[in-house]
Amino acid sequence: MKPTEQVFDVVVIGAGAAGLMAAAVAGRRGRRVLVLEHTQTIGAKILISGGGRCNFTNLNIKPDRFLSQNKHFAKSALARYTQDDFIALVRQHRIAFYEKTLGQLFCEGIGAAKLIVKMLVEEAAAAGVRIQPDTAIKAISHADGFTLETSSGLIKAASVIVATGGLSIPKLGATSFAYRIAEQFRVPVVAPRAALVPLVFGGEDLAWMAPLSGLSVDAVARSGGAAFQEGLLFTHRGLSGPSILQISSYWRRGEAITVDFFPTGRLSEHVLAFKQGHPKAFAKAALSALVPDRLADVLATRFAPDSRLGDTKDTTLQAFAAAAQAVSLVPTGDEGYAKAEVTAGGISTEALDQKTMQVKALPGLYFVGEAVDVTGWLGGYNFQWAWSSGWVAGSAA
Ligand code: FDA
Repeated sequence: MKPTEQVFDVVVIGAGAAGLMAAAVAGRRGRRVLVLEHTQTIGAKILISGGGRCNFTNLNIKPDRFLSQNKHFAKSALARYTQDDFIALVRQHRIAFYEKTLGQLFCEGIGAAKLIVKMLVEEAAAAGVRIQPDTAIKAISHADGFTLETSSGLIKAASVIVATGGLSIPKLGATSFAYRIAEQFRVPVVAPRAALVPLVFGGEDLAWMAPLSGLSVDAVARSGGAAFQEGLLFTHRGLSGPSILQISSYWRRGEAITVDFFPTGRLSEHVLAFKQGHPKAFAKAALSALVPDRLADVLATRFAPDSRLGDTKDTTLQAFAAAAQAVSLVPTGDEGYAKAEVTAGGISTEALDQKTMQVKALPGLYFVGEAVDVTGWLGGYNFQWAWSSGWVAGSAA
């Protein structure tokens, strides 16, 4: 028996953030749109994002807060569909939200992330989009449009939008589908790597970090020309927390990161002033005034002179303070895709039209969202990229 063949104008592969946005926008333009999702869940990552509250965008979206081999690429989509556009949509659906910190907008209430999924599904339904979960795509071919061989039969479409995300969190459905399709159609891919991910240490570094596991402090983490002052969390494998997740996106294997545990000022001035008032004290006491005792203990053991402050030259104390404010650490690795919030790298922006996300050499094929070599900072930036890139593709496909 001949398998049934369905015909659509646009097939979107992946019912995540970018795919749902692209589908709704294309549907509103009168296109016949089908969304294919291989899992049974629509918007799985949205549901768990932001601890179930979904940090859906950021008030301070700027192109330089996105990593890519072409740092200008994201500008066009981010300008055409902005955070204000998405906020307006959220308001229109009467979803309550608040700014947590640093411009990060979260839904109000535990589990409220599901309201964002509901909103996107309603937008898609209102635009006549069909969403089909639990469907495997076995093959795609191109000749006079695209033909998809799926677990529910053959599907033909003039345009295909690949919105299958990156490799992060395989247990939620992440696959390398986008990269495989890119390879098939000779679209270049920037090597993917885990980003916004906890860093792992070994040897002597882990020996002093691991006992501090669970301790959280404010710190500045630096690497690859970037610096982030936010929380830092010691774990049993190394370091995590927002400052470390942020810097992990800029860090490259083999390189060091530098951590300043005293971000509020110059430690040398504090130590020298402390020496005046407490000449009989040791350096640890000076540090304890600024950071938790356990961390002060470790830093003093590693960097401080043995002598009492009053018996130590100012220059020696200044050198100690400088070392404690720029602790150089070489991660042995990261916690990988199982723990990474995003995947950096992906479909090379060189191959895509920045106004539409269409493959320049193969009209009709689009890549959007995390699959593309555009990676945002922590704090709602990655969802905004998904909305913006999905919107421009949906407006063109
Ligand atoms: P996304 O991953 O959302 O969707 C891809 C879809 O394609 C999935 O439904 C997947 O199952 C499907 N798929 C994959 N392979 C397929 C195949 N072969 N066939 C068919 N379908 C396939 N960002 C942010 O801005 N704020 C936040 O609060 C958070 N929080 C957060 C928490 C956690 C734990 C993680 C892992 C990530 C975040 N993020 C985040 C990042 C954010 O979730 C991510 O950047 C976006 O979901 C990316 O949207 P996409 O639509 O590109 O991919």
